[in-house]
Amino acid sequence: GIEVGKLLKETGYVTYDPGFVNTASCTSAITYIDGDAGILRYRGYPIGELAEKASFLEVSYLLIYGELPTAAQLAEFSGKIRMHTLLHEDLRRFFDGFPRDAHPMPVLSSAVSALSTFYQDALDPFDADQVEISTVRLLAKVPTIASYAYKKSIGQPFMYPDNALGYVENFLRMTFAVPATSYEVDPVVAKVLDMLFVLHADHEQNCSTSTVRLVGSAQANLFASVSAGVHALSGPLHGGANQAVLEMLDSIKADGGDVQSFVRRVKDKEPGVKLMGFGHRVYKNYDPRAAIVKQAAREVLDRMHQPDELLDLAMQLEEIALADDYFVSRKLYPNVDFYTGLIYKAMGFPPKMFTVLFALGRLPGWIAQWREMMGDPANKIGRPRQVYTGSAERAFVPVEQR
Ligand code: ACO
Repeated sequence: GIEVGKLLKETGYVTYDPGFVNTASCTSAITYIDGDAGILRYRGYPIGELAEKASFLEVSYLLIYGELPTAAQLAEFSGKIRMHTLLHEDLRRFFDGFPRDAHPMPVLSSAVSALSTFYQDALDPFDADQVEISTVRLLAKVPTIASYAYKKSIGQPFMYPDNALGYVENFLRMTFAVPATSYEVDPVVAKVLDMLFVLHADHEQNCSTSTVRLVGSAQANLFASVSAGVHALSGPLHGGANQAVLEMLDSIKADGGDVQSFVRRVKDKEPGVKLMGFGHRVYKNYDPRAAIVKQAAREVLDRMHQPDELLDLAMQLEEIALADDYFVSRKLYPNVDFYTGLIYKAMGFPPKMFTVLFALGRLPGWIAQWREMMGDPANKIGRPRQVYTGSAERAFVPVEQR
């Protein structure tokens, strides 16, 4: 591929591939997807097995360092992360400046970006020790930032991390506990959220990861690159879809629950009407993550005794779509986001936090991909070409003569 690229460059040809449908931007040994067969593996391990048997921190280690950790390695890794969960008090004060109704995604991105101003001692992308400490700081501080963004939006005081707790338990406590009030983390909620983070942890060259790599290709630091990735993730065609799915289900319910007429509007391509949570650039088969999430959604909603009207609507939508030629012929299946929002809602998260949860899960993937790129001798600054369609050269006309 690299040789063909060189040849095209020398001969002056460019490939025109909007949306990079057929263009590989890098080689990578992290994540394997076979979209036709519905297969996803991290470092060779099937996603289903990791979701069932591995913790999120174990998977983070696997993605970043290439191998599953031994018990001692995992303890050391978790211990290092635990040491860095606090935010600098000056950074904590940033949250006072955002409007109360700010969406937590730009708040998250701003705070991640701001980390580069607090840790100027570790911004060199080619210094292994500096990259290592930045990795640990990011993994440790992003859950704290995410919970502060939430607390700010509901006007509650921030909760400092409790480092006696596990990674996900600590995040849940910082998000839902209130000072001077007792709060017990529900172990089932923590386990399911940990599993959802595993499912989101990497997905090769998706839009946000490609953004992280592109920004990093200019040798921008890890915080700057990940901050850009958070913004890319926020879009409704990418991570923002989990919030959009719930809004879609809510609006179908508000319109009387007529799933058939909604599907008709989707097929008629009414502007702005899509079956959110359906379709994927790479999967042309059932997204293996969606199958796991669907099962978890039923279990969590049953356990939390939540009315599952929206889950029923989602299942009806899926059933109708999977039997309809519009969706079948286009190979549109539920993606990871179709059922996640229902679980997050049952756990008590408002829809605005859904994409933040995706970001928490995707963080180790962004870091692993950025680190892989920085260590790749074939890496060059990302700089696509274009096909120019503007006017040919023309004479300048002074403003008074136009
Ligand atoms: N609802 C209705 N029609 C759809 C949908 C959908 N969700 N997705 C694709 N289509 C149709 C398109 O209109 C197009 O039809 P056409 O051939 O008649 O023009 C055909 O299927 C192919 O779709 P493209 O848009 O070309 O597919 P692309 O690979 O560019 O887009 C994407 C993939 C963005 C995920 C798209 O399927 C979509 O918008 N889905 C809804 C948003 C969503 O769930 N995003 C989350 C993706 S997963 C993730 O990021 C975690």
